[in-house]
Amino acid sequence: MRKYLYLAACLLLAACAPKPSMTSPDGRIVLDFSCEDGVPSYQVSVDGKPFILPSVLGMEADGADLSGGFAVRKIRHAHVNQTWAQPWGENKSVTDCHKEMSVELENASGTGLVLRFRLFDDGLGFRYEYDLPGDGAVITDELTAFNFADDGDSWSIVGDFESYEKPYRKMRLSAVDNANTPFSFRTDGGLYGSVHEAALYDFPELTLRRTEGTSYVAALACDSPQDRRTKAVVGKSFRTSWRTVQIAREAVGLINSSLILNLNEPCAIEDVSWIKPAKYVGVWWGMHLGIEAWYDDGRHGATTENAKRYIDFAAANDVDGVLFEGWNDGWETWGNGESFIFTKPAPDFDFDEVVRYADAKGVAYILHHETGGNVLDYESQLDTALDWAASHGIHYLKTGYAGWLMAGHYHHSQYGVRHFQKVAEEAAARQIMIDAHEPIKPTGIRRTWPNFMTREGARGMEWNGWSKEIDPSHHEILPYTRLLAGPMDYTPGVFDIEYRSIEGDPRLKVWNGLSATECRVPTTLAKQIANWVVLYSPLQMACDLVDNYEDHPAFQFFRDFDADCDWSKALQGEIGEYIAVVRRAGDRFFYGATTDQTGRTLTQPLDFLAPGVRYHAAIYADAPDSDWEANPYAYVILEREVTRDDVLEVVLAPGGGQAVSFIPVEP
Ligand code: NOJ
Ligand code: CA
Repeated sequence: MRKYLYLAACLLLAACAPKPSMTSPDGRIVLDFSCEDGVPSYQVSVDGKPFILPSVLGMEADGADLSGGFAVRKIRHAHVNQTWAQPWGENKSVTDCHKEMSVELENASGTGLVLRFRLFDDGLGFRYEYDLPGDGAVITDELTAFNFADDGDSWSIVGDFESYEKPYRKMRLSAVDNANTPFSFRTDGGLYGSVHEAALYDFPELTLRRTEGTSYVAALACDSPQDRRTKAVVGKSFRTSWRTVQIAREAVGLINSSLILNLNEPCAIEDVSWIKPAKYVGVWWGMHLGIEAWYDDGRHGATTENAKRYIDFAAANDVDGVLFEGWNDGWETWGNGESFIFTKPAPDFDFDEVVRYADAKGVAYILHHETGGNVLDYESQLDTALDWAASHGIHYLKTGYAGWLMAGHYHHSQYGVRHFQKVAEEAAARQIMIDAHEPIKPTGIRRTWPNFMTREGARGMEWNGWSKEIDPSHHEILPYTRLLAGPMDYTPGVFDIEYRSIEGDPRLKVWNGLSATECRVPTTLAKQIANWVVLYSPLQMACDLVDNYEDHPAFQFFRDFDADCDWSKALQGEIGEYIAVVRRAGDRFFYGATTDQTGRTLTQPLDFLAPGVRYHAAIYADAPDSDWEANPYAYVILEREVTRDDVLEVVLAPGGGQAVSFIPVEP
């Protein structure tokens, strides 16, 4: 009898005890935690309405019991409000204001788990921190669910573990099978959201799989096509990346959030004075167009002579650096058992002389390491290759993993994540900045490792050289999806949009899909300029052949442009339709607006400009008859004096854009 009374009292107490819950600092987002029948779960409401319905939390593993039987041991709450600075970024100063709730749990087998939740005014993050009774385990699945309360439209790429270079799809939340992150959506109730992850180390990437209706579950990248069961091999203590859900009331609110960075650790590099954003050009587009090659088949792009031509162009046009692809030995083996040598220049590329020449002209040399995905070979050369680069005074390195699998593992597996991190840290030790192509997606690690400056990780410009698979709305989807994760080396800036300059070129060869003669860039010229502002990258490329920039009046924008930036704001837009962004660098402002296939006129107040300052505005606009399909080259440059009291009427052609530089007028 006494036993029953005790049990009843416990149940009563449990029923009366307030559920562990927390609110965002502004009180508008509420997260409730519960642990019924030993299974942890959470739910989220926004402005009093359900946003995420009760959704389970947990992992499954071989070698440890992680999934059930949990009881709550302790709950702690904290409140943080601080401002921190970064050496570069959309914003150099970032405010981190959040509430934290950590729930300590334990199950009968002795597995300890801390579920750490953080709520910001613009979303939430939570992560798992496990302490296993044994020495380690193999994670076989993640159980985290995201049961969205409302249906809506979503924008995402497919949940592939090998490549992010996939077309974006606009689909109902209730119709997606699986998706990669950032997975962005607008609910029918009018809220914007995006699921992603922050601070991904030593764990596979997170993708989403729909289970039913608008319910999704985490789907971790598996190790390889042969081993689909293994997701992560973990030690006694391990923690996952933060699972994040951004929440905004307007589409640009997703872009103006620092949630992902705030969930990362402070900078791990003591001296960051050598980490510098840069504008660059490169021996690059000729290869993608098929008029040059990465090795000497009579069409070699990276010859000493061509390199000097590019350096001269950079020096004369205020461009900070030059990338040379095809400078090294081994390109004949790309796609066929790669064996690149990262310390051996091609015979017709006088590396020492090019480095000396660039240095003498004050131009940074951007080194390139294509691995083709042969990571075993790359890691065996990594120390020597990075030492060699550093000994030549090189600080910028573009890497590439264009090949199927990385030493047999998926690009986005735990193995892949470890590799990209290893390269970033080894590079940091030698004061080298990284721009990785075919990378793992960004998760805000740039806060901790700011030398890992930018990366590709979505369809970039290269696809226009040998395919017709980039749609004009791609550029109005990227800022609200892929770029929420971090900067992208999209490589904008093709001025010869229909490749007229290579017509009849005897060197032209088809090398990857379609001939360039069947392809083009699906935008107007003004949109190419605007993309330098919109598609943020601290290493920002003007990717066309430099001949197409020589004497081109519109190239003045890039000369004036600063890849460094102090402050940014996305001003207006809708996912997949249009976007307008402004960035401040010192006392200059750069504005970019772009639209999808639909022409539109934006009303743009200039109240972001500094008070009391008159600016010379150089407006690079679509011409009245511009059209991405029928008349892409037409543009006009208008010049005006403006102040923050002015309002611009921004006329965008179908598939068009507009870029404006605002430079203070000397008093
Ligand atoms: C793919 C990269 O995205 C591209 O920029 C590069 O030129 C090729 N791989 C060759 O490395
Ligand atoms: Ca690529």
